[in-house]
Amino acid sequence: MTRTTLETIDEGQQPMAAPGTGQAGIGIPARRVDGLAKVTGRARYAAEHPSEDLLYGVVVNSTIARGRILSMDTGRALAVPGVVDVLTHENRPAHRALDRYYKDMVAPAGSPFKPLHRDEIECSGQPIALVVAESFEVARYAASLVQVRYDVWEHGTSLLEHLDERHPPNPEKTGYTPPPPPKGDADAAYAQAPVKTETVCYSGVEHHNPMEMHASTVWRDARGHLLIHDKSQGSQNCRDTLMNVFGLPERKITVRNPFVGGAFGSGLRPQYQLFLAVMAALKLERSVRVVLTRQQMFTFGHRPETWQRVRLAAERDGRLRALIHEAVTETSRREDYVEVVVNWSGQLYNADNVRLEHQLVDLDVYTPIDMRAPGAAHGVHAIEVAMDELSYALGMDPLTLRLVNYAEKDGNTGLPFSSKELRACYDRAAERFGWHRRLPAPRAMRQGNELVGWGMATGTWDAMQMQARASATFHADGRLEVTCAASDIGTGTYTAISQIAAEAMGLPLEQVIFRLGDSDLPKAPIEGGSSHVATVGSAVDGACERLRRLIWRLAREIRGGGMEGTSFNEVEFRDGTIRLRDDPARALPLPGVLRARRKDKLAVRYLSEPNQKAQSAHTCAVHSAVFCEVRVDEALGTVRVARVVSAIAAGRIINPMTARSQIVGGIVWGIGQALHEETLTDHRLGRFMNHNLSEYHVPTNADVHDIDVIFVEEDDRIVSRMGAKGVGEIGIVGVSAAISNAIYHATGKRLRSLPMTPDKVMAS
Ligand code: MOS
Repeated sequence: MTRTTLETIDEGQQPMAAPGTGQAGIGIPARRVDGLAKVTGRARYAAEHPSEDLLYGVVVNSTIARGRILSMDTGRALAVPGVVDVLTHENRPAHRALDRYYKDMVAPAGSPFKPLHRDEIECSGQPIALVVAESFEVARYAASLVQVRYDVWEHGTSLLEHLDERHPPNPEKTGYTPPPPPKGDADAAYAQAPVKTETVCYSGVEHHNPMEMHASTVWRDARGHLLIHDKSQGSQNCRDTLMNVFGLPERKITVRNPFVGGAFGSGLRPQYQLFLAVMAALKLERSVRVVLTRQQMFTFGHRPETWQRVRLAAERDGRLRALIHEAVTETSRREDYVEVVVNWSGQLYNADNVRLEHQLVDLDVYTPIDMRAPGAAHGVHAIEVAMDELSYALGMDPLTLRLVNYAEKDGNTGLPFSSKELRACYDRAAERFGWHRRLPAPRAMRQGNELVGWGMATGTWDAMQMQARASATFHADGRLEVTCAASDIGTGTYTAISQIAAEAMGLPLEQVIFRLGDSDLPKAPIEGGSSHVATVGSAVDGACERLRRLIWRLAREIRGGGMEGTSFNEVEFRDGTIRLRDDPARALPLPGVLRARRKDKLAVRYLSEPNQKAQSAHTCAVHSAVFCEVRVDEALGTVRVARVVSAIAAGRIINPMTARSQIVGGIVWGIGQALHEETLTDHRLGRFMNHNLSEYHVPTNADVHDIDVIFVEEDDRIVSRMGAKGVGEIGIVGVSAAISNAIYHATGKRLRSLPMTPDKVMAS
């Protein structure tokens, strides 16, 4: 194949330094360094990489939820001029069959899905064929001609109908913290306490709807090397899984994801279009692109349907006596996908008697997958609605009730928090919101034909760091080049990490280039769990420290340079120079140091490990306090979220502008979760009905009003060496609860199921 366009493509892969931002280290609201490439279209996404020799694959999906393929007639499809092949379970090339080859970095316990592996259908929408043609249009048309005969079996797709079949999760599940053992006797304490509440809530299925659909463009060169542009949250996770599945050596595969148009968890695991595109490229020895349609975005995992019950009991002064939180979530029959749903309750509030339980129901669905703040988005919703109910039962202000039960230590483990400025979040957000002006009784506030409700909730999420490597190269022309196989799924990673490097080396942001999104770069984990800044940032910060030492050693050797005899602690790196802390006039420009020692560049690598000892002695978490105002028109059942104030404690904020964007995005999604988003299943067919953006409602600008974000800074050197935590997920947590609580305050109606659509507002 030809690679004539490669040079122009590679140019598009370079993030651009933001012009005119000047010195921009940690804490400065620098504009995105990749912003120019994105708005000018030079940033290419997975499906946009051109090639003159490309085949196009279109996926055919199962129309039944469970059964067996009796026969597939691909003759009419193959007869269409331009169709090259139709891959099915009957004619696919041999591939590895054992589960372990398909287990990616974040696979849950169980048996992963293997595309085109066999004739059995396990869920509606399961990919069953790939039609490959010389053009996308031909492939799409031919895909419509594939005829399938099924033996249809009975299926179960409703969580609520199958609640009795619940079972504890498989303990092998990686990355999942099971609920802690019970404390005291929660059921007895609940029975005896003077004030108690029971909150049952249900949340429907949600699907990720990033702007960019999942896509893989596989370039195959004459020697059989595969350069794959894939929409993913981890290029090395995809590469490693492909190596395992297809038995290929590392040198044969490069996966790139330098620009990702949103992912929110949908790209944590390699998705089926990647396997199918690679399968076709290997079989046909051609370059292949497979792009999913918006409808197919509803076929590979979702936020699971969830049922919860929270029972709280308290003394009359508000002190919690018993806390019982039970959750049941759906999973597929092949994998135990399980989120941390109930643990947050015991972490947020201390009670002597606590029972937290999480169980699963196996359904004929695709395995659910992480979606922004997986588990917390639901679990914190339930506990925060329950706390609101309890506050009314006690006749106590909802915020006061939180303060009465404020956990100074993690109630689950007894460990101290590495940092926890939640109290300051409550204070600052309540003051900004004007919470003290709230009239406590439901239905007490009204304006025109709308009831006004004020509600609040707490949010929390993990703060974590993983292992990563980074390289840092300082060039004699003054440029600093930093690399790591990290991802930027739209979160601002390019910019934040560039700022960390700029700060570490005392350079203006324009002189820093951070390269990510390539599996050949130094090792990085997936971008997930709000951990990337702490993880990749620490690797880059460590590499820069190594580079500073190297430059200082060279500087000491320059006779008359002013650095002779200094110790490393006596110098600092500022304004592009190495200089004495106590005598800043004694300074050497960094390029001058390299030139004086006849070096055109200095390069280092660094492996960063989380501080396991300190982290295991603490609970590391981020927190938020969310206050909101809703306007409810009871005649129409409409709810408008007029104002949201969210105060966030998430360590040091590297870039207040991109961090704010993360929080605002999370709040907007919280509005969607509370009021709009749900994928409904026709259980007779076991099939999602509204798998498109006209019927799956995500919030639009008309749904979004005032959003005010406050950062309460912490400096947490246990979570990361920069003091930063992460802000990717905390923005959404607690938002739906605050809205639900505000709707109750407005109307006196407690809505039990999400989303709280107008029909429910009117009916209850
Ligand atoms: Mo996030 S759900 O870990 O992408």
